[in-house]
Amino acid sequence: MSQRVVGAPASTAAGHSAPVTEQDLVTDTVTIPVKLCNLPPFHSVANQVLSLSADPNIDLRRLAFVMEGDPAFAAEVLFLANSSLFGFTSRMQVLRHAVAILGLDRIKALAITVAMRAFMGTGGPVIRTCWRHSAACAVIAEEISVLFDISGDRAYTMGIMHDIGRLGLVKSYSADIGPVLTREHQDTEALLKAEREAVNVDHGIAGSWLVKNWEFPAEFHEVCARHHEPLSDADPALLKIVKLGCRLADALGFSAVVFRDSAAYAKVLKNLPPHIARAFPEEEELRDNVNRRLAALES
Ligand SMILES: [Fe+2]
Ligand SMILES: [Fe+2]
Repeated sequence: MSQRVVGAPASTAAGHSAPVTEQDLVTDTVTIPVKLCNLPPFHSVANQVLSLSADPNIDLRRLAFVMEGDPAFAAEVLFLANSSLFGFTSRMQVLRHAVAILGLDRIKALAITVAMRAFMGTGGPVIRTCWRHSAACAVIAEEISVLFDISGDRAYTMGIMHDIGRLGLVKSYSADIGPVLTREHQDTEALLKAEREAVNVDHGIAGSWLVKNWEFPAEFHEVCARHHEPLSDADPALLKIVKLGCRLADALGFSAVVFRDSAAYAKVLKNLPPHIARAFPEEEELRDNVNRRLAALES
């Protein structure tokens, strides 16, 4: 799966796209189904956090000010910051203190998690299973990030977003994609093919198009589009971490879909250089850790 995604509809200054009213959006390389084009924009506060945090010298008080403008959003950021998901040891009561203590990358991770929860809404069991897989991938990506010399918060953020295309397809084409996700598939390739047959795009292409349309940085486009390609030494570290996070989430029992040919934990690690594979956590230890941290998202 290596189609390039281009041709997102023009965005307004507020980051909203003009609705596509009549038919699917035909780009240079792929046709995007119309209902996907008409999904609501990503949470505006999270989008502002993402945009401001592109400047590593941003005044963190400005980030706090943006989030405090939406009290419900700010409250949920604080709730998650104090939860077992992120494991900070002392309780933070005020958002601007949390921002100062946690720093730019963690605040971005929190803001995107809150926005993803809002995007997901009160979905049914299919969307909850997809969300659980994305969250497990994020936690695993963070846990293994040190082995690839990447910030844990950056790895987490990419992991939580990697399957946004699947969530987008469930939200926009529930009746078409739901049956695809709830039946068993031989492997990932078979699943992606079934998605394309049902709605014309697979979740990688859908996700890459969505994050491009929401004006996320280019590294998100690549991870969404390419995370099911085979592991390669040439992959950027973040992409490699998410490929592993997604496969290990499946191997640990946090798969979004049932596969007949699902790789075991040890088999996923077999493709890595031995000195890196040996440094990975034990399977049970990682599964327990993911379960403990996901409890915060499910409370
Ligand atoms: Fe995926
Ligand atoms: Fe995944």
